[in-house]
Amino acid sequence: MEDNLDAILSNYERDSFDLIPILQEVQQKFGYLPESEMRKVAKFVGLPDSRVYAVATFYEQFRFTPMGKNVITVCRGTACHVRGAKQVLEEYEEQLNIKEGETTDDLEYTLGTAACIGCCALAPCVMVNDEVEAKLTPNKVAQSFKKEKAK
Ligand code: FES
Repeated sequence: MEDNLDAILSNYERDSFDLIPILQEVQQKFGYLPESEMRKVAKFVGLPDSRVYAVATFYEQFRFTPMGKNVITVCRGTACHVRGAKQVLEEYEEQLNIKEGETTDDLEYTLGTAACIGCCALAPCVMVNDEVEAKLTPNKVAQSFKKEKAK
């Protein structure tokens, strides 16, 4: 991790005005903001750790836990909601044994939601990494995990 952070910091002056772009690059590199790296960033820009943490938690774009290898985003938009998105989300939660916003212990899956993923005619929809899964039902979700386990 050390080399990665040094490479990022080498592009910046020791200036607190650069805090957000630095944090964005750290997140891009690591997939989230590790606590140890945030402390080093704080030292670099000359701010207390608590200030850097306060800034990072203010913005929704920053994550403080690692993302899973596979990111599942269940649409909660109106079209998906009226066609059963809540039940689809609950099935993912049950299959993965995590709640929305969490990542499995083995870092295989992160489960999240979005307001609309732009495929309303195919509701309810879910993004699995870059692929859209259309017209999902809890049963289809359960079957896909059954197939996955059989591999
Ligand atoms: S509301 Fe779900 S894709 Fe638009």
